[in-house]
Amino acid sequence: MSFQQEVNKRRTFAIISHPDAGKTTITEKVLLYGNALQKAGTVKGKKSGQHAKSDWMDMEKERGISITTSVMQFPYKECLVNLLDTPGHEDFSEDTYRTLTAVDSCLMVIDAAKGVEARTIKLMEVTRLRDTPIITFMNKMDRDTRDAIDLLDEVEDILNIKCAPITWPIGMGKEFKGVYHLLRDETFLYKSGQGHTIQEVRAIKGIDNPELDKAIGIYAQELRDMLELVRGASHEFNHDEFIAGELTPVFFGTAMGNFGVDHMLDGLNAWAPKPQGRNTSERQVESSEEKFSGFVFKIQANMDPKHRDRIAFCRIVSGKYEKGMKMFQSRIAKEVRISDALTFLAGDRELLEEAYAGDIIGLHNHGSIQIGDTFTSGENYRFAGIPNFAPELFKRIRLRDPLKQKQLLKGLIQLSEEGAVQVFRPLQNNDLIVGAVGVLQFDVVVARLKGEYNVDALYEHVNVSTARWVECKDERKLEEFRNKAEVNLALDGGDNLTYIAPTMVNLNLAQERYPDIQFLKTREH
Ligand code: G4P
Repeated sequence: MSFQQEVNKRRTFAIISHPDAGKTTITEKVLLYGNALQKAGTVKGKKSGQHAKSDWMDMEKERGISITTSVMQFPYKECLVNLLDTPGHEDFSEDTYRTLTAVDSCLMVIDAAKGVEARTIKLMEVTRLRDTPIITFMNKMDRDTRDAIDLLDEVEDILNIKCAPITWPIGMGKEFKGVYHLLRDETFLYKSGQGHTIQEVRAIKGIDNPELDKAIGIYAQELRDMLELVRGASHEFNHDEFIAGELTPVFFGTAMGNFGVDHMLDGLNAWAPKPQGRNTSERQVESSEEKFSGFVFKIQANMDPKHRDRIAFCRIVSGKYEKGMKMFQSRIAKEVRISDALTFLAGDRELLEEAYAGDIIGLHNHGSIQIGDTFTSGENYRFAGIPNFAPELFKRIRLRDPLKQKQLLKGLIQLSEEGAVQVFRPLQNNDLIVGAVGVLQFDVVVARLKGEYNVDALYEHVNVSTARWVECKDERKLEEFRNKAEVNLALDGGDNLTYIAPTMVNLNLAQERYPDIQFLKTREH
């Protein structure tokens, strides 16, 4: 297969949904189609007691939320799919945000009984920043759901995107009969209790086929009448509008019953964009370029307790990774040799021989890689648009056992490299201040410090209410500011100068007093 064919067959996407809509279940079924799992039921398996390969953290299991981002690669028909998992809890939106910079399309899963929910609205806002194409799956049709037309109206009104139904549901709940495929003019009949397998689904060709009346009785005529209405009231699928993020193809089904998931995957296969280029500080880089480039959107420490390491997740933007190749790391302007990148086949890590634009590779990080880092084949540019957000909540962290100061600092710096929390070390004292965007992150930090670094820590109140990264082009003025404002200055985990303000008023005054200094709320890596 040629280089271009390898790139063109890749589809890199993430699922966006509200908690409980069925993201985990659909992931499990999608993997079943990819033959990546022999038998679905191992991704979460709350009941069976088996745990997902991506659910590696105890906290995650206890709380039933997915904190980490993992990557799964599997083949589906002609394409090779990379599915990036996004954390489900809203406290981790920063992480999710960065993950969404690494995909080319998204699958939006909606609980058809509930309709559009809060977290979906937020995530759609994020996808809008890059006009990411969206495929929609209306899930849980085996339950009593809302009316299908209402659901489409709601998506159009609230999420401001046109809906093009590709399949249409017949009945719902106990009376769910299946779906009619508008483009294929075929009805697929649903049988319950088949969720753990890839079903032999019975299909009836042609809407006027008398077989249909035999199979589903009065529902057949109802469907015919309904379709006239649907065709009149909804949008036809248009590929350009889909690629522009203006229209979403909509599929109906049940993830639990593994019904309709393959229709959605066929849509992804046929319509979702191949790996897209990305903008850099210098120029647009296209996926068709044969020279390697990529950016790090996520770092995770201790992914696998057995390995005790830190992995940097790198999205390849152009070219090809080959084992042992040299890469140029732009931020430190150094050439590095990468001999042991990882791939993520259904959550298992495997040593990688080669990977192409669109793929995610895991790089071992011994402290020299940061989120947002760009790797190239020698050209000096940086990928744009991978931000850190200033935290809004702060606590001082203190040890129960004072002898472990070194481990504490090491743990905090490693966790801050992941980008989930930030650590600040004031210039004038030995405090360690943890900053987070959401409350839950504080608990995660303490649990992980204990589990992974054997450090017992607790929090205390600290008089900090906001932080800003500080920059100034004029070295002399920066030095002057550093001297005068030292009480409010700290270094973050990456040694960047930060202004930590006890109040917003204090921050405003500082901004007025030092007009030459930039106080930044986000920092592009
Ligand atoms: P999430 O990752 O988006 O949070 O959702 P998840 O897949 O965990 O699904 C949330 C709940 O909804 C689960 O039930 C799951 O079994 C159920 N579910 C998912 N898809 C369907 C569907 O198509 N039909 C029906 N009826 N239910 C569905 P749970 O009771 O919380 O967990 P479990 O005990 O079943 O594992």
